[in-house]
Amino acid sequence: MIIHLGNIILRNWQEKDVKSLAKNANNKKIHDNLRDSFPYPYTEMAAKQWIGMVKNENPTTNFAIEYKGSAVGGIGLIKQEDIFRKSAEIGYWLGEKYWNKGIATKSLKAMIEYSFNTFDIIRLYAHVFESNIASIRVMTKCGFREEARLRDAVIKNNTIQDCLIYFLLKSDF
Ligand SMILES: CC(C)(COP(=O)(O)OP(=O)(O)OC[C@H]1O[C@@H](n2cnc3c(N)ncnc32)[C@H](O)[C@@H]1OP(=O)(O)O)[C@@H](O)C(=O)NCCC(=O)NCCS
Repeated sequence: MIIHLGNIILRNWQEKDVKSLAKNANNKKIHDNLRDSFPYPYTEMAAKQWIGMVKNENPTTNFAIEYKGSAVGGIGLIKQEDIFRKSAEIGYWLGEKYWNKGIATKSLKAMIEYSFNTFDIIRLYAHVFESNIASIRVMTKCGFREEARLRDAVIKNNTIQDCLIYFLLKSDF
């Protein structure tokens, strides 16, 4: 699956992305805002494992964000199951060198459209730390709204903290 957005392309992860993925993802500032399953340090071995896991997805749920020819970030969807099967969780990250150029906002807008058009879902949501102003801004620009504060729900870097849920319904989009 390939989504063209001018100078940004959303596409499947490929073997050739190993070095660029490890280079851009290996950043404590990125790790600090994501789950611990997103490794730090982010080695080329971790990059190989990730790409091996997701490169053949069909339909694609995990996209590389390609900017000027290199995979510099990722955006993905986790479809929920059982009674939550009409929902999907969305997540994204971008190499620090590329922050504040509108890349995540453009990517998320495209991902929203792709998700509601491709999967039988009616709700997208994301978990975010309240300190993550940039991500909250990205979601707000894409129409997401704050829904809940999960108190003391998270332990990150040995610190307990709240986590916010932002959501977007298909009917709002
Ligand atoms: C969150 C992230 C993907 C944003 O990517 P990005 O491409 O820089 O986002 P955009 O440029 O589209 O939008 C960022 C917005 O936040 C604003 N912003 C960034 N830092 C800010 C700050 N400290 N205070 C206020 N606003 C801030 C920018 O000005 C911009 O808003 P604007 O367009 O109204 O000016 C990137 O910062 C990142 O990868 N962070 C680490 C991983 C992460 O947090 N992932 C999301 C987990 S929920």
